[in-house]
Amino acid sequence: MNPPIRFLHELSRALAASSLYGEQHPARRKAVQTSYDALQLLLAEDEDPSFSFLGRDVVYGYDALRELKDWEWSERFAAMGVQRIEIVGDVSQEDFTIFIEDVHARLVASTTGGSANGGASNGSAPAGVPALATSRQMSIRFGAIGVQGAATGGGVAVPSLPDVPISLEEESEAIGYIHSQVAGEGIVPLVEAEAVVRSLSVALHTDGRLLIPLLRLKSFDQYTTTHSINVSILSMALAEALGHTPRDVRTLGVAGLLHDLGKVRVPPEILSKSGSLSPEERELLERHPTDGARIILNSDRKLTLPAAVAFEHHIMINGGGYPHRHFSRDCHHASTIVHVCDVYDALYTDRPYRAAWPSAKALHYIERRADREFDTAVATAFIALMRKNERHLEAASN
Ligand SMILES: [Fe+2]
Ligand SMILES: [Fe+2]
Repeated sequence: MNPPIRFLHELSRALAASSLYGEQHPARRKAVQTSYDALQLLLAEDEDPSFSFLGRDVVYGYDALRELKDWEWSERFAAMGVQRIEIVGDVSQEDFTIFIEDVHARLVASTTGGSANGGASNGSAPAGVPALATSRQMSIRFGAIGVQGAATGGGVAVPSLPDVPISLEEESEAIGYIHSQVAGEGIVPLVEAEAVVRSLSVALHTDGRLLIPLLRLKSFDQYTTTHSINVSILSMALAEALGHTPRDVRTLGVAGLLHDLGKVRVPPEILSKSGSLSPEERELLERHPTDGARIILNSDRKLTLPAAVAFEHHIMINGGGYPHRHFSRDCHHASTIVHVCDVYDALYTDRPYRAAWPSAKALHYIERRADREFDTAVATAFIALMRKNERHLEAASN
């Protein structure tokens, strides 16, 4: 059994033993010790392991653990508001014991209908419990990332469409950090970018089904952050709807997140201008796909797909758009996915030069341009996905 799977098995045993035996019982102490030992084995090969529990799937880092498909504890973790576990750095025995006690308290609350840490556990994060945090130590963090009882209004995120009880403040902060690193160092902090995508993927599968939690813009200076998150979420949802593998879906999530990275080189006054752009300003703006692709490849040469998407996301299926190329060729399929998601989110958002369009109007716009601007199959799948999502959100809000 490989170390991540062994650790999860021993963790579930320790939690089960904690339910069966009193605190000082040897069987309980032994089970906790065995799972701690399994964690040390895991940490020997992976310094910062993370697990996400998505319905019946367990995701370790970037990979779904096929052996744990339909593992009963995956749903149990999610039901107690533990959709994610992250280990950051060394874990002392005492920290680990506290972690087990905290998770066990959640387990008891979720199975008895009581409350742990003052909140009801009903499949999302218990109210009053911060997402992805423990109260006492930071070496093991757990929670329902970015999914909170209610949007607090303190961050950039507000609910979209019919109200969605979701806030992605941590992810928004992480995007701000990523952009500041790119602007300052010219390098994409890939670990943070991948972590954001993982947690957006969790948010996308709240309650074990696909619901698209789009953020609404609160102030224009947050546009790039909000837009990056939304395009990442939409691209993952569309890739999933088109039947791509979980790994490809997350690669699309990274590509969506980084597609406009080149905008860090565009003067902010051009990005926020309310009137039409002069030819010189337009030229500066239209450099962002090339700059973005260059920044991404300079950061990591393996990121060829996100770089291709950054370069191609404004190119239309009929060859129009920009950057201008001397020889027309088909764009990568991933670029056609991100393109449609990019246009939808831009139309659906307030901009300095026009108010947000209603979702139906934005979808109609895409429908009319299928086969000229957008790949027809991709646009059709996107429209169907968004209409279905709206029906689900409406049902959820009633
Ligand atoms: Fe763009
Ligand atoms: Fe964009």
